[in-house]
Amino acid sequence: MDKDRKLIFAGNWKMNKTVAEALDLVHDLKLDLANVREVDIVVCPPFTALAEVSKSILDSSIRLGAQDMSEHNFGAYTGEIAAGMLKEFSTRYVILGHSERRQYQKETDALIAQKLLAAHSASLKPIVCVGETLAEREAGGTNSVLETQVNGCLAGLSKEQMEETIIAYEPVWAIGTGKTATAAQAQEAHAYLRGLVVELFDETVARRVRIQYGGSVKPSNARELMSQPDVDGALVGGASLEARSFADIIKNSI
Ligand code: PGA
Repeated sequence: MDKDRKLIFAGNWKMNKTVAEALDLVHDLKLDLANVREVDIVVCPPFTALAEVSKSILDSSIRLGAQDMSEHNFGAYTGEIAAGMLKEFSTRYVILGHSERRQYQKETDALIAQKLLAAHSASLKPIVCVGETLAEREAGGTNSVLETQVNGCLAGLSKEQMEETIIAYEPVWAIGTGKTATAAQAQEAHAYLRGLVVELFDETVARRVRIQYGGSVKPSNARELMSQPDVDGALVGGASLEARSFADIIKNSI
């Protein structure tokens, strides 16, 4: 597929997989994806499996991501994990501001903005999630929700940091529901998001920044979504829990 930006596929395993199950999954992924070099591939296991998965992917092109991290570097924050701790396992990416964390942990754009800065200071590449709920879409509020989230999360970054940030457009109504945005809906939102990056930064940054789509991505819909000009990869939840479906999403997209 002809796009300047390298596609990036990330598997968000959420709160799934014991260490043994995680190792089985990456073992199969390594086999299924052994010959795929033209895209970036990331797996985001739960914290408890990072160390073992990290060792297991050393001899592959799969990279490691975490699902969240603290905005603080160390200290009295019970239960939290700092960027430096993730780096110990050669973690390269971190998902920030997922809608489930916004909903259940009440994460705000201001908090996510702090986490983004902490990730960049540790040279972790953030995958920052934005997206509207069904009620917001039906009320015609999609663009204004995206604008608020983008401004609130990304405005404090330098141009260099923005280029190393991945935006994941994840309409909340499509996550885990089996309802995917149509390719046209995804493209419209992605083009809008890229326009917001132009406004906040500049054309060059916006041309380089990668915007993933997330929300019920499957092998059967990946190709059409990825063929849209502003869709640069996928953040995959449910379908990343099985090697075959995650690998097929990637293979069907290239
Ligand atoms: P889903 O999840 O693929 O299961 O819809 C996507 C996500 O939450 O990142």
